[in-house]
Amino acid sequence: MKKIPIQFQSFNQIEKRKWLIIVVLVATVHLFCQTLMLPYGTALLSLLPDHENTSYSTQISNSETLEDELQEESFKVFEEVALDEIVNDTSAQNQLENDRFVTDDLRETRHELLSVDLSSNLEDGVSINNNVSNNEIKPKILEVNVNSFTKPGVNKSGDGMQARILPINEKYVLFQTDGRKRMRCLMPPKSVMYNDQMNHLLVRNRRSSRAMRPRWSSPRDQDILTSKVQITNAPSRMADQQLYAPLYRNVSMFKRSYELMESTLKVYVYKDGDKPIFHQPIMKGLYASEGWFMKLMENNKKFVVKDPKKAHLFYMPFSSRMLEHKLYVRNSHNRTNLRDFLKIYAEKLAAKYPFWNRTGGADHFLVACHDWAPYETRHHMEYCIKALCNADVTMGFKIGRDVSLPECYVRSARNPHRDLGGKSASDRHIFAFYAGNMHGYLRKILLEYWENKDVDMKIMGPMPPGVASKMNYIEHMKSSKYCICPKGYEVNSPRVVEAIFYECVPVIISDNFVPPFFEVLNWDAFSIIVAEKDVPDLKSILAAITDEKYKELQYAVKKVQRHFLWNVKPLKYDLFHMTLHSIWYNRVFQFKPR
Ligand SMILES: *[C@@H]1O[C@H](CO)[C@@H](O)[C@H](O)[C@H]1NC(C)=O
Ligand SMILES: *[C@@H]1O[C@H](CO)[C@@H](O)[C@H](O)[C@H]1NC(C)=O
Ligand SMILES: *[C@@H]1O[C@H](CO)[C@@H](O)[C@H](O)[C@H]1NC(C)=O
Ligand SMILES: *[C@@H]1O[C@H](CO)[C@@H](O)[C@H](O)[C@H]1NC(C)=O
Ligand SMILES: *[C@@H]1O[C@H](CO)[C@@H](O)[C@H](O)[C@H]1NC(C)=O
Ligand SMILES: *[C@@H]1O[C@H](CO)[C@@H](O)[C@H](O)[C@H]1NC(C)=O
Ligand SMILES: *[C@@H]1O[C@H](CO)[C@@H](O)[C@H](O)[C@H]1NC(C)=O
Repeated sequence: MKKIPIQFQSFNQIEKRKWLIIVVLVATVHLFCQTLMLPYGTALLSLLPDHENTSYSTQISNSETLEDELQEESFKVFEEVALDEIVNDTSAQNQLENDRFVTDDLRETRHELLSVDLSSNLEDGVSINNNVSNNEIKPKILEVNVNSFTKPGVNKSGDGMQARILPINEKYVLFQTDGRKRMRCLMPPKSVMYNDQMNHLLVRNRRSSRAMRPRWSSPRDQDILTSKVQITNAPSRMADQQLYAPLYRNVSMFKRSYELMESTLKVYVYKDGDKPIFHQPIMKGLYASEGWFMKLMENNKKFVVKDPKKAHLFYMPFSSRMLEHKLYVRNSHNRTNLRDFLKIYAEKLAAKYPFWNRTGGADHFLVACHDWAPYETRHHMEYCIKALCNADVTMGFKIGRDVSLPECYVRSARNPHRDLGGKSASDRHIFAFYAGNMHGYLRKILLEYWENKDVDMKIMGPMPPGVASKMNYIEHMKSSKYCICPKGYEVNSPRVVEAIFYECVPVIISDNFVPPFFEVLNWDAFSIIVAEKDVPDLKSILAAITDEKYKELQYAVKKVQRHFLWNVKPLKYDLFHMTLHSIWYNRVFQFKPR
């Protein structure tokens, strides 16, 4: 693939057009090669405009062919480019300027990192190199005498250098030093919550809801109360061929609740708010989940009601991705205006309609996949049900109220199921697989321990560039028993859904991460959750799983897959319905009668 010279800083319209032509050419050649070499029957089709606007789909296609499917974060680079074209925002170019991150303001780093990549190193999209090693904290794993220092903490020495010590296990500590200010996303969390504590919290929050009692009653309240009684008294052992019981915390309750959602639930979608931040779904890229939900919800006939008095739930259809894109001032390190924007919106709803004040927002919900969404919705949307990809208990995610939304990297908006599936359990010849960028602290630890250490552990940095490597990555996932999903900068990673997509058992290593649909799914049935501190024992943990157990896990992955798929026309139990169901289910259990 040819190198494309780009200067984003001096980016006038003519150069832009030239660039576009080159990109289209390169993309065509790239696709042509692909159709010859790879089982990509529909690859060329994706260059043609479809039902969507031409400029839109062409841009999207470019990004699609160029994007690096190996490194989720570099997807964002291309998404950025594509998005800039879609919205025709000339100011966006200014945002692409080179930047350094010397800030303590953590969530921004991902962005600034991308800017660095974009302006310095854009080849054919595969070999994007985040050369940030000079700037960031270098973690070291040291073998220590346990008795000498075991206390985690910050060690300040005289010259202002800071070191932070985090015990990994009895034998090792993670030791980080850096002269600069620390960034949260590059540091291990200060507090850690494991799965059993999360289960505990779920039970507790179910028992004693913190939601506000309605200020006055509504006829809809009775529906919710009736549903709650029916769900908690769901007849057990209800025969159902459609549901594979081990996947659920309680299949009877899930089934009953789902049926009640279908027969009862009505949602009002606020018409307030202007495009593009509201009502304009983005159907591709890393944050596509919020777009798909928005589109399918706004077009839904079954659940949506025109009369808000009939509604049990109120949906605020904004895009956290667009919010960042339109309002974040690049290099400002200041997201206050994004938060204020949503605050004003919520205040307007509260002033204009009686519904918000009735419950303090507790029957209102939002669906947002951007990393910053927890920050943007804090305080002023505190009682709302938040469906978030960044489901981090240390970032305000409330188990039992909020919904962990799966982060899905959607590559083709027309065919979101492309390449779905993988080899059978017995044909999976790679034991454990990970390839990707070294974002955050954990992946460095993972590689420190496992890169080139063990033939069974195929754990590496980004896969080498090349036309075929995209397929190579997918083939690896399709041929591996276990797909390692370590956290990146944030707790969530699209790898979890990717693993399920390719029928590989996900191994989630991300403390404080609440896995998707936590309130209904039994993640132990189809995934392995490993504590970050147990990375050194990763192999022995996986090797201890018997063949028989593995087959059960892999079978369950296949069974759970449909819950993680977006469909252009929503199907029963698919990702759209699962998201709506979890919101409904949490509302039912959080509801407090007057
Ligand atoms: C396509 O563009 C037209 C006008 O430019 C606009 O009205 C329409 O909503 C767009 N359609 C889509 C799917 O974006
Ligand atoms: C894009 O923006 C430029 C400059 O603001 C404008 O001249 C052009 O008409 C816009 N194109 C579209 C498709 O809106
Ligand atoms: C990163 O950049 C520095 C100079 O800025 C260079 O010396 C180093 O080799 C680069 N590292 C990688 C991995 O490209
Ligand atoms: C802090 O670091 C210094 C040397 O860098 C070391 O002598 C000292 O024992 C450390 N303190 C703690 C509490 O670990
Ligand atoms: C599932 O929930 C139902 C209704 O609350 C209850 O009767 C049943 O015992 C539960 N089953 C399990 C396995 O917990
Ligand atoms: C961030 O921006 C807001 C306005 O949007 C401003 O009031 C505030 O002072 C800024 N904060 C900092 C630290 O610059
Ligand atoms: C809801 O409460 C807010 C703040 O208390 C108030 O400003 C607003 O007018 C109320 N809304 C309605 C519709 O009464």
